[in-house]
Amino acid sequence: MAATRALSAAWPLSSRLTEAGRLEVGGCDAVGLAEEFGTPVYLLDEDDLRARARAVRAALEARAADGEVLFASKALPVTAVYALMAEEGLSIDVASGGELHMALAAGVDPTRIYLHGNAKDDSELRTAVAAGVGCVVIDNADDLRRLEALAPAAPVRVLLRINPDVAGDTHAAMSTGQGDAKFGVALDDAPALLARLRASDAVVLDGLHVHIGSQLLDLAPFARAAAALAPLGDFGTYDLGGGLGVAYRDGDEPPSLEEWVDAVVGAVHDHLGPDKRILLEPGRALTANAGVTLYRVVTVKPGAPPWVAVDGGMSDNLRPMLYGARYQAEIADRFGGGTPCRLVGKHCESGDVLIEAADLADPRPGEVIALPATGAYGHALANNYNGVPRPPVVLCRDGDARVVVRRETYDDLLRRDVGL
Ligand code: LLP
Repeated sequence: MAATRALSAAWPLSSRLTEAGRLEVGGCDAVGLAEEFGTPVYLLDEDDLRARARAVRAALEARAADGEVLFASKALPVTAVYALMAEEGLSIDVASGGELHMALAAGVDPTRIYLHGNAKDDSELRTAVAAGVGCVVIDNADDLRRLEALAPAAPVRVLLRINPDVAGDTHAAMSTGQGDAKFGVALDDAPALLARLRASDAVVLDGLHVHIGSQLLDLAPFARAAAALAPLGDFGTYDLGGGLGVAYRDGDEPPSLEEWVDAVVGAVHDHLGPDKRILLEPGRALTANAGVTLYRVVTVKPGAPPWVAVDGGMSDNLRPMLYGARYQAEIADRFGGGTPCRLVGKHCESGDVLIEAADLADPRPGEVIALPATGAYGHALANNYNGVPRPPVVLCRDGDARVVVRRETYDDLLRRDVGL
């Protein structure tokens, strides 16, 4: 059972190639899983999820007292994953009433839930307050107006999200801290809203929040974001958001979780003070590399280079189409290249290209293709384009695999329709 080849950082921590050259995830044979659960299927390495959650917690504990790690659940909103992250001692960041509903359904302690969102409506805030969420991250003056209208029995703990006017160096759609981003309160407008928050009976102001962007590979902007908060006053708690980038392909070398925590804690200590309570909100860095999507090749069509079409595509992974995200793929039991090809999906759009320049080892119809690093924002962004049912999510550990989200059926596609 010795691994014959180490896999890169793009792949789950417990994945490996067996002596026979077959991909295993969490001790389970990938081709066997494709047969058992069908394709496409999202695999999750449970030990990987747990290990990264523990690593961030340990890294923060080692560098700052009394900190808190929140799982940004938008990356992988699955009840089992909410429960698993809570088991590992993480709090949960929810960005909507729907994510709040899932977190509560997973049994997450409401006091460990943080409600985010730049457009929280009355019902989302009402539900959050009624559930007793631990914190609401105020994004704008209307959040405060709505909370006051709810007249909560006890004041709600809040953080104020600031737009620090610091751009994260990433795809434009994922940079959230630049001056004209829709998130948070502008530095110039913050003092007035801070005064209103302090004067309000509906809330208790605990500190400030920033989130500058996602898939960040350069950590320098965290120091600039912390520095931008300094003139707003002295607070007990600072939430520096998430954003750490991950490896999508062999050779990608993002900062480690520890390097990220070092940079963020250092930024807070340098610019805001040594004794601050620091909150972190990683999403992608906790889940992306735990995930592998398996597809089956449906057809190989001649072309320059050839088209290799699989049984999924933009319904299960929108990231290449939305952000130009680049992935790698392998045949699950025959790693290696030799056949440059375009790996495409089954959807009715020319843009449904998973990998523009793939390199597979002579792919043939029926073979199982594995795409690593799909554990974040894959299932989360999945859709039913072309009436394609969404894949199941399968948790793998120690040779056992269990479905934690079942595959959608064609009947599911009809479930909300009421007919003419
Ligand atoms: N906190 C806040 C307030 C956020 O808006 C986000 C992500 C996070 C934390 C977690 O960021 P992470 O650690 O995952 O980078 N759909 C895009 C990603 C959008 C991220 C939005 N906000 C993608 O597929 O890459």
